[in-house]
Amino acid sequence: MIGGDDVKVLVTGKLPDAVVDRIRVDHDVIASETETPMSPEKILEAVGGQDGLLCMITDKVGPVLLDRAASLKMIANYGVGYDNIDMSAATKRGIPVSNTPGVLTDATADLAMALILAMGRRIVAGDAKTRRGDFKFWSPMHFLGREITGKTLGLIGLGRIGKAVAKRAAGFELHAVYYSRRRLGPADEDRLKVSYRPLEALLKQADYISLHVPLTADTRHLIGEGEIEQMKPSTILINTSRGPVINEAALVRALKQNRIAGAGLDVYEKEPELSPGLIDLENVILLPHVGSATIETRTRMANLAVDNLLAGLAGKRPPNCLNWEKLPGKGRE
Ligand code: DGY
Repeated sequence: MIGGDDVKVLVTGKLPDAVVDRIRVDHDVIASETETPMSPEKILEAVGGQDGLLCMITDKVGPVLLDRAASLKMIANYGVGYDNIDMSAATKRGIPVSNTPGVLTDATADLAMALILAMGRRIVAGDAKTRRGDFKFWSPMHFLGREITGKTLGLIGLGRIGKAVAKRAAGFELHAVYYSRRRLGPADEDRLKVSYRPLEALLKQADYISLHVPLTADTRHLIGEGEIEQMKPSTILINTSRGPVINEAALVRALKQNRIAGAGLDVYEKEPELSPGLIDLENVILLPHVGSATIETRTRMANLAVDNLLAGLAGKRPPNCLNWEKLPGKGRE
């Protein structure tokens, strides 16, 4: 324990020292010192008596944890997705919850584009082949990939990250169509060079499909057997959102039978576990959830999470509070 004040904060993941020092100025901090995440048991043990919690997207924050943390006044999630937090349980206890939107948009959109390019042009498989010593000749039909330019990119979800992918796609002369709960106005569609499609039409038309929805009860298994069935055999599916948006067992079956051409995945249904058979497939690229993992973005995320945490602990509205209006006595501030 370090710090001079009575206010206590638990930081469950390893963040840059300089960022954690911003909390330490006025608060007692217990912070993870190792890259391995704090175990759920360790968190439950440590959270009692804490005023602030800066947690990771892998920490399950629900009634069990919250009941242990009767003095908790602020939860700052390190990440834009907050499906790890039981929002109604936190709100019921009057606890503000924040996330880190905006600062990771570009990094995540870059990774989605990287997966589109890498799957289309078989970059990872080509590298492996060359390293194995299997590059023996050049020939016209050797190791062909799929074109990017002029193909149709189907964006499912058009929030900040989906829009940032659309902008990048325009640079590659991809024709972008999107499906989203809320359709953009014509001016925004023109500016982003995107056209709306109902989900079924998008699934049937797109050469590349990239998922950009948050994980909610409505989006869990949004892509399952039936949706994959509607895709073209040449379709490549990209997921940098949340694993459970895809029914992973159904995807493995489809990839095994070459019912679609491939998948570029950064996230998994039971992360960090992979569905049986996934690693044996050659028509996939598998990344370890690194959408926002650049030095610059992760530092911005850490600082934003701390901005939120410190504001909440000071009784102010955190800049990225998700439930302020619903908190008793806070709604009209
Ligand atoms: C998030 O912020 O939700 C990301 O998945 C972390 O990279």
